[in-house]
Amino acid sequence: MQELITQYFSEIDRFTAVNADELEQFRIKYLSKKGLIPSLFDEFKNVAPELRREMGQALNELKNKAQDKINLLREQLEANTTEVKSGIDLSLPVDFSQAGSRHPLSIVRNEIVQIFSRIGFIVAEGPEIEDDWHNFSALNFQPDHPARDMQDTFFIGKDPEIVLRTHTSSVQIRAMEQRKPPLREIYPGRVFRNEAISARAHCIFHQVEGLYVDHDVSFADLKQTLYYFAHEMFGEGTQVRFRPSYFPFTEPSAEMDVSCFVCGGKGCPICKYSGWVEILGCGMVDPSVLENCGINSEEYTGFAFGMGIERITILKYRIQDIRLFFENDVRFLKQFSGVV
Ligand code: DAH
Repeated sequence: MQELITQYFSEIDRFTAVNADELEQFRIKYLSKKGLIPSLFDEFKNVAPELRREMGQALNELKNKAQDKINLLREQLEANTTEVKSGIDLSLPVDFSQAGSRHPLSIVRNEIVQIFSRIGFIVAEGPEIEDDWHNFSALNFQPDHPARDMQDTFFIGKDPEIVLRTHTSSVQIRAMEQRKPPLREIYPGRVFRNEAISARAHCIFHQVEGLYVDHDVSFADLKQTLYYFAHEMFGEGTQVRFRPSYFPFTEPSAEMDVSCFVCGGKGCPICKYSGWVEILGCGMVDPSVLENCGINSEEYTGFAFGMGIERITILKYRIQDIRLFFENDVRFLKQFSGVV
């Protein structure tokens, strides 16, 4: 009996199965009711009493060994079949031709960040979930301002009012509360408005905010900085024009247009035959906004600006539908591969 146990032990050890049938044959041979191992158990009653203990232990070990082997081979076979089914051979080298590409919004955001960092602007970020103070009150929005309306803003808390930020101007406030002038910073980020989603509008979009606060900052500094930006972003020959506008947190306020970079100002569908495209809002930081953040408005002045990344990207890449940015359709995204 001892000899048989040793023999079966090494047979089981060496056994491998290429398919489930072979494994089943193996199970029947060793473990089925009439199999080799149960037969050994039957013979066990004839073993001399003084050998029983040792023999019984050996038999149990043999049985466990066979069962473990079956479990192991079954697992391996199952793993192999799923590999074949999914068509994935994990042993093959990686196919690098399938490398991903940057999202067009990231491409344009990075370009904006690089342009401003060349003239000393640093990048900072703020939270997407904001309180009323940072999103509205500190920026001089009156309590009855329409932007606070339920139609425009996603409120996610009442008393105190908590909102999804409707613009990146909130980060200006956080920056001025946390750091003291001189400040020369830009704030890229995601913003939210309760808009009906269409080809031209979305409830999520992206902005880049800019802020410059120091001694003697003037409207001339604002114009020169944005003129530099327009040239870097849209090309040397680009012209800019400033139209008076209104924002509660800047005084005076303006909107900046650039000469259409598609037709050069002659008039085309992109600029709606006006020769100009609107790019951003800007202005001198209202003294009361500086004071709201603990900055002495007698000592410091500043300018701020804010632009929509989607808008610039749509113009730059002639994209017809803003929803494409959020659908993650690889046929769309792949068209930007190679741009870094
Ligand atoms: N926050 C404005 C918006 O979302 C954009 C803006 C305008 C930002 C003028 C500014 C600014 O910093 O000075 O429409």
